[in-house]
Amino acid sequence: MKEMKLVPLVLIVFLFVRHGTFALFTPVDNYLIACGSSKNVTFQDRIFVPDSEHSSLVLKIDNSSIASSNSSVPSPIYQSARVFLGISSYKFGIEQKGRHWLRLYFYAIPKSGQNLKSALMSVVTDDFVLLNNFTFNNYNGSYMSKEYAINVTSNTLTLTFIPLNNSIAFINAIEVVSIPDEVLPDQALALNPTAPFSGLSELALETVYRLNMGGPLLTAQNDTLGRTWENDVKYLHVNSSAVNVSVNPAIIKYPISVTPETAPNLVYASAEMMGNANVPVVNFNITWVFTVDRNFTYFVRVHFCDIVSMSLNTLVFNLFINDDTALPSLDLSSITNDLSVPYYKDFVSNSSVDSDTLTVSVGPDTVAETTNATINGLEIMKISNKFRSLDGPLSVESLLPSSPSKNINVGIIVGSIVGAVVVMVVIGLCYCFLVARKSKTPQQGHPWLPLPLYGNSQTMTKMSTTSQKSGTASCISLASSNLGRLFMFQEILDATNKFDESLLLGVGGFGRVYKGTLEDGTNVAVKRGNSRSEQGIAEFRTEIEMLSKLRHRHLVSLIGYCDERSEMILVYEYMANGPLRSHLYGTDLPSLSWKQRLEICIGAARGLHYLHTGAAQSIIHRDVKTTNILLDENFVAKVADFGLSKTGPSLDQTHVSTAVKGSFGYLDPEYFRRQQLTEKSDVYSFGVVLMEVLCTRPALNPVLPREQVNIAEWAMTWQKKGMLDQVMDSNLVGKVNPASLKKFGETAEKCLAEHGVDRPSMGDVLWNLEYALQLEETSSALMEPEDNSTNHIPGIPLTPLEPFDNSVSMIDGGNGTDEDGEDAATSAVFSQLVNPRGR
Ligand SMILES: *[C@@H]1O[C@H](CO)[C@@H](O)[C@H](O)[C@H]1NC(C)=O
Ligand SMILES: *[C@@H]1O[C@H](CO)[C@@H](O)[C@H](O)[C@H]1NC(C)=O
Ligand SMILES: *[C@@H]1O[C@H](CO)[C@@H](O)[C@H](O)[C@H]1NC(C)=O
Ligand SMILES: *[C@@H]1O[C@H](CO)[C@@H](O)[C@H](O)[C@H]1NC(C)=O
Ligand SMILES: *[C@@H]1O[C@H](CO)[C@@H](O)[C@H](O)[C@H]1NC(C)=O
Ligand SMILES: *[C@@H]1O[C@H](CO)[C@@H](O)[C@H](O)[C@H]1NC(C)=O
Ligand SMILES: *[C@@H]1O[C@H](CO)[C@@H](O)[C@H](O)[C@H]1NC(C)=O
Ligand SMILES: *[C@@H]1O[C@H](CO)[C@@H](O)[C@H](O)[C@H]1NC(C)=O
Ligand SMILES: *[C@@H]1O[C@H](CO)[C@@H](O)[C@H](O)[C@H]1NC(C)=O
Ligand SMILES: *[C@@H]1O[C@H](CO)[C@@H](O)[C@H](O)[C@H]1NC(C)=O
Ligand SMILES: *[C@@H]1O[C@H](CO)[C@@H](O)[C@H](O)[C@H]1NC(C)=O
Ligand SMILES: *[C@@H]1O[C@H](CO)[C@@H](O)[C@H](O)[C@H]1NC(C)=O
Repeated sequence: MKEMKLVPLVLIVFLFVRHGTFALFTPVDNYLIACGSSKNVTFQDRIFVPDSEHSSLVLKIDNSSIASSNSSVPSPIYQSARVFLGISSYKFGIEQKGRHWLRLYFYAIPKSGQNLKSALMSVVTDDFVLLNNFTFNNYNGSYMSKEYAINVTSNTLTLTFIPLNNSIAFINAIEVVSIPDEVLPDQALALNPTAPFSGLSELALETVYRLNMGGPLLTAQNDTLGRTWENDVKYLHVNSSAVNVSVNPAIIKYPISVTPETAPNLVYASAEMMGNANVPVVNFNITWVFTVDRNFTYFVRVHFCDIVSMSLNTLVFNLFINDDTALPSLDLSSITNDLSVPYYKDFVSNSSVDSDTLTVSVGPDTVAETTNATINGLEIMKISNKFRSLDGPLSVESLLPSSPSKNINVGIIVGSIVGAVVVMVVIGLCYCFLVARKSKTPQQGHPWLPLPLYGNSQTMTKMSTTSQKSGTASCISLASSNLGRLFMFQEILDATNKFDESLLLGVGGFGRVYKGTLEDGTNVAVKRGNSRSEQGIAEFRTEIEMLSKLRHRHLVSLIGYCDERSEMILVYEYMANGPLRSHLYGTDLPSLSWKQRLEICIGAARGLHYLHTGAAQSIIHRDVKTTNILLDENFVAKVADFGLSKTGPSLDQTHVSTAVKGSFGYLDPEYFRRQQLTEKSDVYSFGVVLMEVLCTRPALNPVLPREQVNIAEWAMTWQKKGMLDQVMDSNLVGKVNPASLKKFGETAEKCLAEHGVDRPSMGDVLWNLEYALQLEETSSALMEPEDNSTNHIPGIPLTPLEPFDNSVSMIDGGNGTDEDGEDAATSAVFSQLVNPRGR
């Protein structure tokens, strides 16, 4: 390098060659789509292919039409558009994970037969909201192009257009293009207060300003990453404060840390410097003012290159973002050891205090030899907020309505349930594609209702409008499988005194639950399916199938069923003490002791652990809550209600995808976001149960102040402070061994971890709860209150974990039926359950 500098000609050739090699960046994923077009469109030297012809693109359109224009438009990509009358998506196969540009082009083509100008729409990816409630009616301009940088972490990217309020949505062109990993960082320096900010790689960015300071407009032809850089003058606070300078781009010497992908040399070859502002003081700032959304934080990248100085260390200046000093006394040549060498720096900033603007200023430093300042390029990108949105406070989940995904043309149902703290609308649209592709007749959204033993209407299930063919109901034959005792309807009538209302235990969405007494005096719980419920039959069958395969001391056992006269009746063992919840709050029942509570939690944990690990196929309960944990006459806890159960992931999957079901307040946030069901979703719900047991209040209580509404959030804030005793049941205060409480709190905290991978297994939870019980039972003098490890303290015996409760046979073969027949039935049942879509 040094030798080359001695020979300028060689240097220039070298730089040219080097630039040449960098310029050859070819994106692995490179989708350029002209939507609704009938022919290839060339724009900025790039060929946009019609969406209908692109080979590796999957289009899922509810009902679309095409708009086109032959009037003159600034770019041919605006000549056509695809117009969506329903929720529609493009799905891009992604070969290289990582950041991608996602560029969208919109033009409300006039006189196209559709009123595109008043189209009201939202645009989302799998994880991020890009545009929400957008309409050209509120937009100042005719054309709109948007650029986003999305880190794609799976091998597809789905872009969904949502027409709002019975309106339409449309799009003219789409680009999905890979970005080299090093271009956008994970970390930047946050200002006010100054601190490192990391985690950017998991967030979405939207380019709002990208300026070539003091230079001309650069477009995709001039930038290897297809970016547009505009001139800065219109953002200058005082026009005359700046003067532009430029040099031959060929003299720009890229160091190792900066490449033409960071910014083209054309950006570094021009700059704004201090002009003669006609001000009495020579010491002033050049300031640019940008309109921003004050509800977002912004990523700000500043590009510098000293292209004017004659010698090193003469130009020293300050950079301010808003009123915060971002780079004090910046001497470029001391960093780069040379002139004309690019340098850039990344920051994270909010808008200036109480305003909708963000300002960037450069001004001379007092110690400098020359009173001047420079800046070559500026990029300002909006960072997605906590709702994973770049436009407003709504998440993808709340914008995409739930879909039954039965077939492509089925009406999309907006299932929106407004809770005190959550507005949820749920869908797995991207999943629908997978489903639609994998299976011609997807049953993923199979409508079924939970049937809580002790009815609790808080259970919420997404219901499909597609009705179950009633014909199939009568075809279900239960006779061939061993499903426990078959009751005659008359026996049920006798047992329940003709469904005497005084014996009613509860009412659920499915039907009613009565207490009954069999001829031999055994008490039972009789769950009578509502025969009007169209969805019920499948549910009924699932529950019988599930329960008859599962026998465990901590699961409520099925005794038999009755399907006579199109009745759907299930007979369970009777749980004398009813649901756990009624022993916690809302009734006059005596308060449970800490030891009783621990034992109940341990029992329930054992039941769940058995569900997760005891059968060949893991079973996820999906609706763990205090009303589904029942207590028998000896206060032994048993898990009930498998109406929502589905089998867990098999070996080739890591999760089961399914529409979100479950009860508010208990719902795993990750499951809610991604609709990926794992055993860890049950662990989360169980964590909520643990907090409920400790604090004796409902999981959700909308009446309370906002921060207290959700027990998981509320209790966790106290747990994190180590002050869980402040919110625990007042009946327990002073009666709990602190070490036991600590262990219990830590266990609940781990269960409530945001991400499933960070949560313990039910086996670990069980272990920790047993440990908490040991701590309670053993004298506190022996304890080490500081202990927070999960390791076993020597000397404290722990009961061994029994994943399989061998005292009860797993499959009830008591009736001595033909084993082959049973096996066949079992495998058929499980093959249906293993593949939730194949039903
Ligand atoms: C459109 O462009 C694609 C990709 O460049 C090319 O394969 C295709 O042949 C073109 N189609 C027409 C009709 O020119
Ligand atoms: C598509 O929408 C148009 C206009 O609303 C309607 O006339 C047509 O029947 C729809 N087609 C389908 C397949 O839904
Ligand atoms: C657009 O082109 C079509 C046929 O190519 C023609 O009939 C129509 O008048 C043109 N419209 C305008 C606005 O030029
Ligand atoms: C959506 O936009 C429409 C039209 O601009 C406006 O009337 C409405 O209030 C907006 N809705 C929301 C939720 O922001
Ligand atoms: C629209 O833009 C023009 C020029 O850019 C500006 O003068 C006008 O105030 C803007 N109108 C609105 C409603 O923002
Ligand atoms: C939705 O449309 C109706 C009439 O079609 C209108 O009254 C209402 O204001 C619209 N709502 C929004 C949010 O645009
Ligand atoms: C994208 O996200 C993944 C997972 O969060 C991360 O490992 C990767 O480094 C990110 N890539 C980029 C280019 O930010
Ligand atoms: C950008 O590229 C176009 C097309 O190659 C060219 O005409 C234009 O001069 C370039 N701009 C600059 C500033 O070099
Ligand atoms: C500042 O520059 C802009 C863009 O060149 C121009 O429109 C505006 O009139 C100028 N203002 C002043 C005060 O010179
Ligand atoms: C800053 O430097 C530029 C380029 O050399 C020059 O045009 C400008 O007058 C200087 N500004 C001041 C205040 O000296
Ligand atoms: C430049 O702006 C910063 C931040 O607003 C301010 O603290 C500083 O005093 C300004 N310098 C001059 C010379 O006005
Ligand atoms: C920012 O958020 C507040 C409260 O959510 C809202 O009232 C305001 O309209 C938002 N501002 C913008 C510019 O969206």
